[in-house]
Amino acid sequence: MPVAPVPMLVDCDPGLDDAIALLTAAHFADLVGITTVDGNVGIDHTTRNALAVAQIAGLDVAVHRGASRPLTDQSRGARHVHGATGLGSVELPAITRSVESEDAVGFILESSHRVNGLHLVAVGPLTNVAEALQQDASLPERLSGLTIMGGAANGGNVTAAAEFNIWADPEAADIVFRLGGDITMVGLDVTQQVLLGPAQVDQMRTARKPAADLAAELLDYAIDRSSELRGWTGAPIHDACAVLAVTHPQLFHGKRQPVSIELTGTHTRGMTVVDDRGSYADSDANVRVLRTADADALIELIVEAATAVQ
Ligand code: RIB
Ligand code: CA
Repeated sequence: MPVAPVPMLVDCDPGLDDAIALLTAAHFADLVGITTVDGNVGIDHTTRNALAVAQIAGLDVAVHRGASRPLTDQSRGARHVHGATGLGSVELPAITRSVESEDAVGFILESSHRVNGLHLVAVGPLTNVAEALQQDASLPERLSGLTIMGGAANGGNVTAAAEFNIWADPEAADIVFRLGGDITMVGLDVTQQVLLGPAQVDQMRTARKPAADLAAELLDYAIDRSSELRGWTGAPIHDACAVLAVTHPQLFHGKRQPVSIELTGTHTRGMTVVDDRGSYADSDANVRVLRTADADALIELIVEAATAVQ
């Protein structure tokens, strides 16, 4: 008896890897909605990009616009990675779609009441999720889980200590990690093991489908930036790993540990402080921290999704 696809709401800041994550969610999950947040680029661009992916891939999924800035800081951005528009150098067609609302938080809360077993996957800064929790602390009780692309048990990418999604809005992350219920953290420890290279660009291109062509162009751009910035031969498609951690949990390994968010450190603001001592009480282990994954299998699944959607 095939298992029904997980009902999934993706909160994102497209973003090269967010875009591929949306295709991954559309293929492997029951993607019930998309909410956008300021992150890699500003909210106008992240929202336009989410609409563009849905349009090009022919997704019958509503997009709801969210927070235009972090809870306390100014908008930061990661344009050096994702390009000025957030989708590299892609020339998008005219966007004929529009947002269903400008109330991402309201949509997240409404969906949690309407969709049984909803899994919330957050792959951008956690501003929308934090505001939803501030409005209704009972949100986690109605979710089958909250999976976050963010943080790292060791190191960072935007600074030596912090990963971008947490660093971009640490106050939001602090609220979510304290109040978010059954959290799974898909951090850099996992996502930087899953590098897609030119071979995957070629595989996507052979599909000769609009969404696959888009994914190939985004991946090609990401590989170029990854090579320039990190000297790597492939690009981590971070956000798709978070989606697959929900749809293919057997490919990941981790355990529940205490995780707190550094808010004041001069060099460590935005760090996910993962307690590895083992002497903590189970009740303090608030987050399932994923550490390893079957990278080869994940790479195949991401290509499968990118080439399957229209
Ligand atoms: O650090 C990687 C994360 O930051 C990804 O979600 C990427 O899209 C950016 O938002
Ligand atoms: Ca993202």
